[in-house]
Order: sequence, then structure tokens, then C-alpha cells
Amino acid sequence: MGRDFKTIGVIGLGTMGAGIAEVFARHGYAVVGVELNDETLARGREHLDHSTGRAVARGKLTAEDQAALLERITFTTEIGEVKAADLVIEAVVESPEVKKALFQQLDGIVREDAVIATNTSSLSVTELSTASSQPGRVIGVHFFNPAPVQNLVEVVRTVVTEPDVLDDVAGLVRAVGKNPVVCGDKAGFIANTLLFGYLNHAVAMYEGRYASREDIDAAMRFGCGYPMGPLALLDLIGLDTAYEILDTMYKQGRDRLHAPAPILKQMVTAGMLGRKSGRGFYTYEGPDSPVVV
Ligand code: NAI
Repeated sequence: MGRDFKTIGVIGLGTMGAGIAEVFARHGYAVVGVELNDETLARGREHLDHSTGRAVARGKLTAEDQAALLERITFTTEIGEVKAADLVIEAVVESPEVKKALFQQLDGIVREDAVIATNTSSLSVTELSTASSQPGRVIGVHFFNPAPVQNLVEVVRTVVTEPDVLDDVAGLVRAVGKNPVVCGDKAGFIANTLLFGYLNHAVAMYEGRYASREDIDAAMRFGCGYPMGPLALLDLIGLDTAYEILDTMYKQGRDRLHAPAPILKQMVTAGMLGRKSGRGFYTYEGPDSPVVV
């Protein structure tokens, strides 16, 4: 019989951690949410208030259910409080040093049979697992942003992840209404490996003046039914973020598909980061404005 997960520890209540805490609390799990200090903890709590408040406003959650959901979350700056957790998910900053230090710290806190998961999007889960004394119980759970809305979770197994840990975590992902997909430990996992190869190809096409930005985007929207063309999507992701993701994947996998198109780096250097800077492949009036030029 599989593990009976009841209490979930979530470390880091930023963009992803707050969303992950919401997902589990919404499905009846007790959540221990840990942040660095009072200020970041308050920010995490605000994020949750805001996100669940929006769900109430949209009629997707009743006010009573919102109150019950928030009741299930213990907000704390005391990492020792995750000792009760059956599963701890870390969603702290994307830094191997910070994450490894955290895994070491968790060793002295969690039960020996607890599962430790990382929400990393680009670091090696295997490498992170070496910081734990129980690497067989370390696994990746890659939620997508925003976690309460996106239905996919990539469950990442390393060469030493115990098979029952993989089965139990995939089952838990299903229990919170998400679709688990299982993959090995390679930067990008399934979705971003495919997506960013495609986005990079679109940039190369634009760079080679093969077609205009509008026509590249129109081809994928009207021909393939994508909600957004690749260049508009890159502007939304942020060209700096996209460059970093491609560069990491290329360095790890050496697949030419992911060698960042040169113009991407040039645009980043020139400060053309996409929507957030007002200019990328397109020009924007404000962060949410439609395409202007
Ligand atoms: P974020 O910067 O919004 O949140 C990180 C939080 O962790 C901050 O609130 C910070 O105060 C806290 N923190 C840092 N060190 C801590 C520690 N030792 N103990 C407790 N709290 C600590 O970052 P974000 O975007 O939520 O990313 C978190 C993780 O999720 C990263 O590994 C990232 O690669 C991954 N990810 C991010 C996605 C995104 O779209 N933002 C999508 C999927 C995964």
C-alpha cells in the first residue's frame, strides 16, 4: 500500500510555493508553509489571500471554503515545523547552493520516511539529491505557473529515486486534480524541452529574415491553433528568462535545437526583454498592453 500523505511542507512561499500550498490546502491537506522572515512570510500569505479571493470573486470557491482552505495552512518562519510533514516540497530560489543547504538542513528535521521534493525548473534533481542522506526519497515535482490553474505536473525521477516514491507522488498529484507525467532528470523536462526548441527555431527564422514576426506568429496561431505565436509568447516569458533556460538546456544536453539563437542574446544585452521592458520582438505601451508596433 502506498503512503498516506496527510501533511505537506512547502518551503518558500513565492510565486510557485504560494500556489502549491493553495493546491494542497484546497484538496484538504494540512500544509506547513515556511518562509525566510516575517516580511516574506506576510507576502506569501498575501499572495494566498489574493489568489483565493479571486477564486471566490469568480464563483469558483465559496467564502466558507476559502476560510477553510486558509485554516489548513500553518504560516511559519520556523523550518523545524515541517517535522510533521509526509512530503516536503521546496520552492525556494533557483540556486543550487541554497537548495542543497536546505536539503542538508531538512535531514535533521524530517522523518526518515518522508519524501523530499523540489520544484526546480532547470537544476539537476540528482545533484540536489546528493545533499540529502536519503537520495532515494528525493524527487522532482515541477508545477507550472500559476500552480492553482495549470493542470500539468512533471514528476522527475533520478536514477536512485525509489519506485514506490515515484508511484506515491504521482498518485498524490492525481489526488489534487493534476495530470502527472513522468520523466528523467534533464534540464527542461518534457514540456520546456519541446517548447523552447520550437521557440528558438522561430527566433532563428526571424533572425534569418525568412518571414516577418507577424507572419511567423500568424502561421502558428491560424495554422496550428496555438493561442499565441512563438515570438509574442517569448515577449511574454521575457527574453532574458528564455535565454537562460535555453542556455542551461544547451549546456546540459548539447542539442543544437537549444543553442540560443544569437539575436536573442543581443536583444537581452540591448535591454529588449519583451513585455516587461516595453520592447522585445514587438513594442508595448505597458506590461499588459496589446501590441503597439
Ligand atoms: P520566488 O522568488 O517567487 O520565490 C522564492 C521564495 O523562496 C521567496 O519568497 C523567498 O523568500 C523564499 N526563500 C528563499 N530561500 C528560502 C529558505 N531558505 N527558506 C524558506 N524560504 C526561502 O521564486 P519562484 O518563481 O516561486 O520559483 C521557485 C522555484 O520554482 C524555483 O526553483 C523555480 O525554478 C521554480 N519554478 C518557477 C516557475 C515560475 O514560473 N516562476 C515555474 C516552475 C518552477
